Amino acid sequence: MKPIKVGLLGLGTVGGGVFTVLQRNQEEITRRAGRNLEVVVAAVRDVAKAQQLVGQQVEITTDPQAVVNHPEIDIVVEVMGGYEPARTLVLQALENGKHVVTANKALLAVHGNEIFAKAREKGLMVAFEAAVAGGIPIIKALREGLTANRVEWIAGIINGTCNYILSEMRDKGLAFGDVLQAAQALGYAEADPTFDIEGIDAAHKLTILASIGFGVPVQFDKAYVEGITQLTQQDITYAEQLGYRIKLLGIAKRAATGIELRVHPTLIPTKQLIANVEGVMNAVLVKGDAVGLTLYSGRGAGAEPTASAVVADLVDVTRMHTADPENHVPHLAFQADQLTDMPILPVAEVTTSYYLRLAAFDKPGVLADVTRILADQQISI
Ligand code: NAP
Ligand code: HSE
Repeated sequence: MKPIKVGLLGLGTVGGGVFTVLQRNQEEITRRAGRNLEVVVAAVRDVAKAQQLVGQQVEITTDPQAVVNHPEIDIVVEVMGGYEPARTLVLQALENGKHVVTANKALLAVHGNEIFAKAREKGLMVAFEAAVAGGIPIIKALREGLTANRVEWIAGIINGTCNYILSEMRDKGLAFGDVLQAAQALGYAEADPTFDIEGIDAAHKLTILASIGFGVPVQFDKAYVEGITQLTQQDITYAEQLGYRIKLLGIAKRAATGIELRVHPTLIPTKQLIANVEGVMNAVLVKGDAVGLTLYSGRGAGAEPTASAVVADLVDVTRMHTADPENHVPHLAFQADQLTDMPILPVAEVTTSYYLRLAAFDKPGVLADVTRILADQQISI
């Protein structure tokens, strides 16, 4: 059978990893896909840097339109990141009849409804395993493996940069800024690392997971987002003394009146498995009514772990390339006309436990004052 032709939008950390893995494991991948996967063209800004990686094997261009309009390309892989021009290019690729594989969670969390609608109109696949939790096949597990279940909640460490920072601060007492720089050098962080440390990247991923888990459209703007920038070494040390570890968690939960969708630092008892997921590792817990609790863990960022997910999508799309569109797995797990408008709850309507660290003068009656103020607000400590 003739090879499937692939065009890359971006050849950075993830794009480079995809090229390397496809080259190294070409034979095995072809045996699985049933056809050879051939990278034909890649769009970048810095041609010389890209050519150092791929030599003369791949046509390099600075014009991304040349990829999405390329007559021979079957699948466009969007690994350039950001909202624009990624959104326009993905829509153009779909308009031109090309399937899309993307690692871009920001794009899907904000523009996913529009992109999936265009893909449905054209009978095309948009695959995005790499968009959530790097190399962990969590999209596949949630969308296909757990399809019998009513999902009750999903909670996970889904930002490798933050988990790496928190681990290094705790283990080695390193300063926040130094560890962030190391995460950037290792290729874990987003182009704008505030997306990582302010919890935005985790909220993008959680938005996608919640849509697949509960059958609702993507609604990033409704997520509650709090990052790790307000945490101090003191918080980490105190947590440890109390028998907890601080992790940035994304939590999506079915409640009586809607869905909780929140990202914030969380104290987890050290005896729990997920509290011991360290460094760039991610872990996602999914509670389904039939299966019970399931846990998925692995590397959440970096070139080859992420490429592992992108290439898996390439193989999936290749296998389904000639299938009737009605036989494609729905983008968000539920049939598009079966998505519901279950509301996302504002954080003020979420009842949960909080950790408060207060600085107070050491004088008689201070704690009584604090507890009185909290009691007046119906808060128990
Ligand atoms: P990256 O290293 O910055 O690579 C981006 C690539 O896109 C580079 O080759 C860059 O070209 C190219 N590019 C960007 N804007 C362009 C434009 N306007 N025209 C042409 N080329 C352009 O980013 P990355 O870490 O690979 O991330 C890519 C995507 O994967 C993002 O959506 C990210 O969120 C997602 N992701 C990343 C990871 C990870 O561990 N890094 C994991 C999962 C998902 P130049 O190099 O020439 O500038
Ligand atoms: N910046 C992201 C992270 C990349 O650190 O998790 C993987 O999505």
